[in-house]
Amino acid sequence: MDNLKQKAVDVLKQNDRGSYTVPSPKLYPHQWLWDSCFVAIGLRHVDVQRAATELESLLRGQWANGMMPNIILSAEGHYWAGKDFWHSEVSDYAPKGVATSGLTQPPLLAIAVLAVARKMPTPEAHLFLKRLYPHLVSYHEWLYRERDPNNTGLVSLVNPWESGMDNSAPWMDTLKWMTALWISTLIRLRLDGVLQRRRQDTHDVPNSERMSATDALKVFHLAYLHRRNGYDSLKTLASSNYCLDDVGFNAILVRANEALRTIANEISEDLPYDLTYRIEKAPAALELLWSNEHKLYFSRHTKSQKLVTEASAASFLPLFSRGISPERAQALVQTLKSQSWWAKYPVPSAALDSKYFDPKRYWQGPTWINVNWMIISGLRHYGFKAEAETLKNICLELVEKSGFHEYFSPTYGSGHGIDNFSWTAALTIDLVS
Ligand code: GLC
Repeated sequence: MDNLKQKAVDVLKQNDRGSYTVPSPKLYPHQWLWDSCFVAIGLRHVDVQRAATELESLLRGQWANGMMPNIILSAEGHYWAGKDFWHSEVSDYAPKGVATSGLTQPPLLAIAVLAVARKMPTPEAHLFLKRLYPHLVSYHEWLYRERDPNNTGLVSLVNPWESGMDNSAPWMDTLKWMTALWISTLIRLRLDGVLQRRRQDTHDVPNSERMSATDALKVFHLAYLHRRNGYDSLKTLASSNYCLDDVGFNAILVRANEALRTIANEISEDLPYDLTYRIEKAPAALELLWSNEHKLYFSRHTKSQKLVTEASAASFLPLFSRGISPERAQALVQTLKSQSWWAKYPVPSAALDSKYFDPKRYWQGPTWINVNWMIISGLRHYGFKAEAETLKNICLELVEKSGFHEYFSPTYGSGHGIDNFSWTAALTIDLVS
């Protein structure tokens, strides 16, 4: 194990850019929001100061309205959706002099902040929490104010990139209805092949392991529409038919809300009244995503309020939320251990019997270490110690035999996507520590 840990530390060193860590120098040469949270959770066991810096460095990208962007763009490397794609300056809220995306990503920040603080001596932890607290409050306030304007208790996402699971089955099932004229024309003229050649990700990783060109066009189109709205979430929510109350994002938010409450308590601060009210409503709202028929949680279509009954591994993240009842957790674990999900190397990002399942294609089949890490945490919390231990050992077996890949085949355990991927390395450190 010491050897594995050392190798993981070496990967993080290679990907270290001083105050933040890139997910992969080749494929992802910028700073990503939830990637940095996972990196900090691993790094805290090795160098807690550097872990704190990883999180504090995210704050330079925070927008004046509280939004935390999913990407802080650096001048380094080539990325297919860079500065010229996002044009964050179209919003007055974007930070001056720092180029960012105009979308967010799963809100793990408060969870990571608390996890890092737990490894610091008390006086330092106190100062660290005090520094981060106002930023966390304004982020959570933004999520509820701008992404749940009707006070449903669930926040909505305007683009699959925000879920962190770009082409997962529920999102692609929703986008199959997208009929933007230019997309269908491009596809008819077969110009999607031209875009395909411009994509950096398909230079470094085989096409068959990435998002399809058609799906990528749709996701781009949604990002473009949001940009045209000046990244005004209320405008996009009102006009788009492709918003989801994403189950993974909302489950993580429930857990992050609790982390934020703990932080407020520890530094003797009172959370704003409105935010407390939203936080208290959130677990009951998450319950609305439960389907008794499927014994699973699903994402919900924001406009129609109907569940999208295509699952992804995010359907198990309510275990991570800690906000569901023990009975629900029990039922969910039973589904997890069923033939549809318990692959040789679980947890597949799509059900083994789903029409979307493809063992090597990105978020439509492969097993991801960050998702497993969250599920392991949930299993432990609800007392499923044996299942948690088994899943942990599977993760370690995967990285031992295939390296710190971005994702793995749930059938063969082979590594896919890019190698030396930061969160795979960081969470390995956490699992063995
Ligand atoms: C991909 C993943 C996303 C991740 C990013 C950087 O876009 O889908 O979750 O944050 O790469 O690693």
